[in-house]
Formats: sequence, C-alpha cells, structure tokens
Amino acid sequence: MTSLPGRIGWSVTGDRTLDFARDPMDFTQRHIKAFKSRMFQGRSMNRPHAFVASNQGLKEVLEEKADMFSMGYRDFGYMYSLFGDLVIFSSDDEALRLRGILHKIFKPEEVTGYMSQVEIVSTRLLNTINDRDIVIPYKMFKLLTTQICLSLFLGLEMESAKEEAKAIIELTITHWHGLISVPVNFNERLLNIVSKRLAEEKSGFLSVVREAEFQSKAEMANHVLLFVSALIPKALAALMTSFCLELAKPQNAEKRRKAAQDDRYLENVLLEVKRLWPPFLGGRRLAKQDVVIDGYKIPAGHYIALLTRAANCDPKIFPEAETFLPERWDTCNQLDRERVWTFGGGPRMCIGDKFIGKIIKLIAKHLLQSYEWELVPNQDLTYKWLPVARPKHDVEVAFTKIGL
Ligand code: HEM
Repeated sequence: MTSLPGRIGWSVTGDRTLDFARDPMDFTQRHIKAFKSRMFQGRSMNRPHAFVASNQGLKEVLEEKADMFSMGYRDFGYMYSLFGDLVIFSSDDEALRLRGILHKIFKPEEVTGYMSQVEIVSTRLLNTINDRDIVIPYKMFKLLTTQICLSLFLGLEMESAKEEAKAIIELTITHWHGLISVPVNFNERLLNIVSKRLAEEKSGFLSVVREAEFQSKAEMANHVLLFVSALIPKALAALMTSFCLELAKPQNAEKRRKAAQDDRYLENVLLEVKRLWPPFLGGRRLAKQDVVIDGYKIPAGHYIALLTRAANCDPKIFPEAETFLPERWDTCNQLDRERVWTFGGGPRMCIGDKFIGKIIKLIAKHLLQSYEWELVPNQDLTYKWLPVARPKHDVEVAFTKIGL
C-alpha cells in the first residue's frame, strides 16, 4: 500500500481547479507522466482530491468498494441549488428508495412504450436532411435530443406547441447556464411548468411518473426536472456527434458500411464511441473512511475525482487505447465490455443507460441506412471536454442520400 503521489498544496494558492478546467486532458496526461501513476492527489475546488485515472481504480470506487464512499455532488458548484433534492444527492436507504422508484419508471415494458414516441420525433427530424446537405452534427443532434426529451418527458407536441416549446427550451438553457457558471434561480419557473403538466397529462411518461411511489409532489417534480433539464439532451447529442464525426472520417467509410449491415458490429462501434468520448468527463465521490484504491491509500475526507475518460483509455486494459477500434470488442477486449465507465457503474450506475442505448441505436441505424456521410475536408476537429465532450468548432459533415 502506497501514499498517493502529489501534494495537496496550500489553501487557495495551491488550488488546481482552473488548471484542470482550462484543459482537463492535458492536466491529466501531464500529471500521469510527472508521477508515473494514474492515481495522484491535488487540491481542487479548494478541497483535497484523489484523482483516479486508472481503470482498476474506477472499478474499485464504483463497484467493489462503493459503500466506502458517498456521492460528492451536493457541494459541487451550483448543482444542488438548481435541482433540489434528487437521487444523485442521496445516499444509503434514501438512494435505494429513489432508485427503486426510478427503475420502475424505466422498466423495459415502459421503455418500449417511450421508444415509439422517440421514433416518431426522430424520424420526422432526421427525414429533413436532404441529399447533399451540409450539416453541423452537434447542432442537429441537440435539436433532435431536445425535441425527444420535451416530447417524451413533458408530453409536448412539438408540431403544434412550437411557441411553448421555444419558451421552455429558453428556460432550460438559462437553467443550464446556472449549472455551469452563475447561480440563477430559474428552476422555480421550470418546476411550475413540470407540475402543471404532471397534473394534466393523461398518458405516457408523466402518467407513469404520477403513479410512481414518490413521497411528495415536490420530489416527483424535481426528478422530472432532471430529465427535462438540458443535461440529458446535451449528453445524448454529444454521444451522437462523436459517432457521426468518427464514422465521417474517410478512413472509416468501410466501418460505416459494415455497421449499416451488421448489428453486432454496430454495437461494437457504439461501445467504442462511448469508451472514447464519454459526454461527462468524470464523476465525484467523497471517502467516508480511509480506503485503499488500486494499491494507494486514500484518507477519509478526500474527494475522489473519477476521471472516466482517462480510465476508459487506460493502456493497461485497452491496447492502442486512443485508437477507434470497434474490432477490439470481439478480439483483445472481448472480456472488458463492463470496463467502460461512461454511464458509471455499480450500485449508482446510470438508470437511463439501457434506454439511452436504444435511442442511440435507433438514430444510428436510421442514419446508416438512409445516408452516406463524410467530413467536409480541412477542418479543425479538436475536442473540448467541458461541460460535455464535443468538437470545439462547428465541424461540418456532408450527407448524401442512399439509393436516389
Ligand atoms: C448520454 C446520456 C447520459 C449519460 C452519459 C449519463 C451518465 C450518467 C452517469 C455517469 C451517472 C453516474 C454518476 C455517478 O456515479 O457519479 C448517471 C447517473 C444517473 N443517470 Fe444518467 N446519463 C445519461 C442519461 C440518462 C437518462 C436518459 C436518464 C433517465 C432516463 C438518466 C438517469 C440517471 C439517474 C437517475 C442517475 C443517478 C443514479 C444515482 O444517483 O443513483 N441518465 N448518469
């Protein structure tokens, strides 16, 4: 058992928050190189942090030693003031109770019903891509995923309620800006809309939520707010963008054609996209007691910065870790499918994981079977990783309809 390399540093002056936020990838690689270790410590948000970039480290924190940690989000930026009491801030029995309710809302039979609505919205929007259109994928997917979430989680009819949808989208954008920069108290207006629709909606998702065993109307509305907020559409749009851009590279044209015909190969492509471009760069925990992770001693009271993207690309598990290689899932990494941490893991794993998987596959298949697509040449494809993983610039892709 070894002490974590690195120094916690002085309060304020030793804080590394800005260094990390400026370029999280460079921050992580620099420290891994300097300490020759994928586990190190430092001061972030003015608190002692253990940075965990090893795949084994994430496995232990999320799965094997999960009960030694509490979730670290309640005092993370403005999250709690914007969302209120939510599963993500809870622990122990309270977390179990809320997860039980949410699992029922997203059980497979219900998800099958939700999917028919997702299909209607997706088909309508994707069919507006014309032959030889030049598209900015992130913009297109954000429009699509926002429409999916508002139609599904709020029961908004996107065609007939355009003005209402526009007003709600503006509120969700302001709410999002509150999350990532200044605190603004906009959740009340959004919560009022959620509560009104919860009372009115006769069928679909909101009626399933109404029947669920939430302890109060406020608890119910807070959880719907989570799904309606910009967080989920942005994360979903980020994943779809990474899928689209990677397969738009000229060297991947053959992979794209194979994915269009072979379902198993498409699943490998999507898993590889999740591995390389997790929308959320990482997660957070708080050590309740002294604990050993991947051989390093972490003292009680340390926060854990889970560096999901770095762990997904740990060369100890993934050969040619930075290379897009869907074939790995049927060869060298066939036993490692559960070592991609994009949706978390263990007892606090994302509840929407399977549902998101179905939505992504539906959109991916529609695109693969209807279009060929290719990057417009000579563009800067550099990624930014915060707040969600996506290209820094408005990268363009040319779509061509198949079979015209
Ligand atoms: C691409 C989209 C999404 C991504 C990348 C994502 C990712 C994640 C991750 C990484 C966690 C774990 C956080 C942690 O352990 O610290 C999580 C938790 C959660 N996710 Fe998702 N998620 C997505 C979409 C969704 C959707 C669509 C739903 C609902 C249908 C959802 C519901 C939840 C809930 C309720 C939790 C909290 C679980 C708990 O606190 O026990 N997520 N998500």
